[in-house]
Amino acid sequence: MKKPRKALIPAAGLGTRFLPITQSIPKEMLPLVDRPILLYIIEEAIDAGLEDIIIIQGRNKEEIINFFDSNYELEDRLEKSGKLQELKILQKIRNKANIISIRQQEAKGLGHAVHMGKPVIGDEAFCVLLGDELMIGSPNPTKELVDHYEQHQKPVVSLMEVPEDQVHLYGIAEFQERLDDLTVKIERMVEKPEPGEVRSNLALPGRYLFENDIFELIENTKPGRNGEVQLTDAMQALCKKTDLYGRSIQCTRHDTGNKLGYLKACVYVALEHPEVGDEFRAFLKNLEV
Ligand code: G1P
Repeated sequence: MKKPRKALIPAAGLGTRFLPITQSIPKEMLPLVDRPILLYIIEEAIDAGLEDIIIIQGRNKEEIINFFDSNYELEDRLEKSGKLQELKILQKIRNKANIISIRQQEAKGLGHAVHMGKPVIGDEAFCVLLGDELMIGSPNPTKELVDHYEQHQKPVVSLMEVPEDQVHLYGIAEFQERLDDLTVKIERMVEKPEPGEVRSNLALPGRYLFENDIFELIENTKPGRNGEVQLTDAMQALCKKTDLYGRSIQCTRHDTGNKLGYLKACVYVALEHPEVGDEFRAFLKNLEV
């Protein structure tokens, strides 16, 4: 039985919704209290049993790679000054997974970014986790996709219901058949549909599990919305060719790629933070605005 071992995280977007900070700091490296968003995404992949983490990055994204490298000077200083707890945190991050970085020279769309992983993925099944979609709580949606794949050996993607007035912001899936409360068989996919173009409000929140035939489908996908090669368009071809399943997520999802979503995620993480959570909660309660 085939078991996915690799995760691909596209993190090459320009972060235009978050300028000016994203001029020099990748949006995936923005902090949720003291840890970058990307670390949460990587932990989700590792907790789902994935071992190799392939990060597709663009220009100005060196911080991402530096974060998983060792900083000898800092670590030496921490060791000599007895700050062993801090040292352990840094070493743990480094040892978390095999991080493989691929540079995407031009931002040509999500489909193109995923295709950059082809030489490293080989003929294995793999997961895609979008670098600005934060999933908090359980069950871990990537683990759910992996478990589903182990049972059915077919591609499967996460889905979530969105209000009608937000349908145009997402890739949307129409289903052919509902298999149970959480699972559907997908019939059609449309990237950011126009009003009335789809009869569904099931959106893609950025977690996917594919076999390597997706690469050929991406190669045959013409630029779509915004003139970019859309992963959703390749998935439309995929569901014509094979069974493509959708699984509704059950955890909390935050789109940290926009300002409000990021702020909400910060509050959510801060309230649960072991060091500052209680005081922050009290602060919010007493806040007079
Ligand atoms: C991308 C995908 C879209 C998906 C969304 C989730 O769009 O193209 O299908 O629903 O991520 O965040 P973007 O938000 O990058 O425009």
